[in-house]
Amino acid sequence: MALRNIVKDGDDILLKKCRPVTKFDKKLHTLLDDMAETMHHARGVGLAAPQVGILRRVVVIDVSEQQNQVLELVNPRIIAYSGEQEGNEGCLSFPGEWGVVKRPNYVKVRAQDRFGEEIELEGEALLARAFCHEIDHLNGVVFKEVADRMLTRKEIEEMNA
Ligand code: CO
Repeated sequence: MALRNIVKDGDDILLKKCRPVTKFDKKLHTLLDDMAETMHHARGVGLAAPQVGILRRVVVIDVSEQQNQVLELVNPRIIAYSGEQEGNEGCLSFPGEWGVVKRPNYVKVRAQDRFGEEIELEGEALLARAFCHEIDHLNGVVFKEVADRMLTRKEIEEMNA
């Protein structure tokens, strides 16, 4: 496993639509392993492939306290959602920036695992938010575009206090 560089705000790759994964091979497994390591190292709860410069529909998420429950989603799509939550959202590609983003409170996702098997996952609260945020990345959508507003420096200081 290896750490990959995280693409930062200003790089056009974050605004591009990703292509589906068609080969569930060693290269994909290495990408998934590297993405999980990179996400944990950066203390994030999710990472999408374009954030490491790869325009493929691949996402890793880990909302666990211990950072030891990685979810791997290949070619994910939202098949059901309900409710609403409003909360602060950040992104490893936009360090230090936070926005107020409305998301569904419940999200159900259909995807493939690293071997190409169909899987379904569902989540509420932070996990539902992470599904939406990361799948947006695969469509070239960053959270700043869907935020109702960005937090001020003072609000961020208070949040971190
Ligand atoms: Co992000």
